Amino acid sequence: MSSAILSLGRQVFGNPANKGNIMPPEEAHALLNEWVPNERLRLHMKQVGAVMKAWALEKEGADEPTARKWELAGLLHDADWEKYPDGHCRVIIEKLEALNIDPEVIHCIASHGPRYFGVEPENNMDRMIYAFDELSGFIHAAALIRPTRYEGLDTKSVLKKLKTPSFAAQVSRDDINDALSRIDVTLEVLIEFIIRHQKDVQ
Ligand SMILES: [Fe+2]
Repeated sequence: MSSAILSLGRQVFGNPANKGNIMPPEEAHALLNEWVPNERLRLHMKQVGAVMKAWALEKEGADEPTARKWELAGLLHDADWEKYPDGHCRVIIEKLEALNIDPEVIHCIASHGPRYFGVEPENNMDRMIYAFDELSGFIHAAALIRPTRYEGLDTKSVLKKLKTPSFAAQVSRDDINDALSRIDVTLEVLIEFIIRHQKDVQ
């Protein structure tokens, strides 16, 4: 992420009265199609959404409505990045507040880059979007350079590329390490999980 991004300057998001309110996937996808013409960026958000939902269901024992919250946060976390680079994160947050979306979804999006937005991850949903975001993009970059893409891509080769600073240099290894330091999950487990759950996302 660019260093031009400004801190959000606040810590409280959404209205507690909206707890449980999310938007249906069709609406989230419609918003993505409208706000994010770049297909690759849209795919990134769909991948993070899929990985978030799968993690909630598989690892957190979440029920379906909770898993859909995780998915929505992933789906929309960069929704304003392309059209409003100077207002990144602020614009989508204000949009979701205007739509009366669950404050946990909004806080999750607000905390997906603590160094940039000035909002610390507070719960597992927040911590996992932070852990998945950069790593998901990195793994996709690693898949794209292979003739067989995700087919046969393994954790070891991703680990090796992470140690190669010139590969996908824009992906912040510092952010990945910082996110990892906040959760009780190994990098290997995360990489394997991401490969498995984002490889078929279209
Ligand atoms: Fe992202």
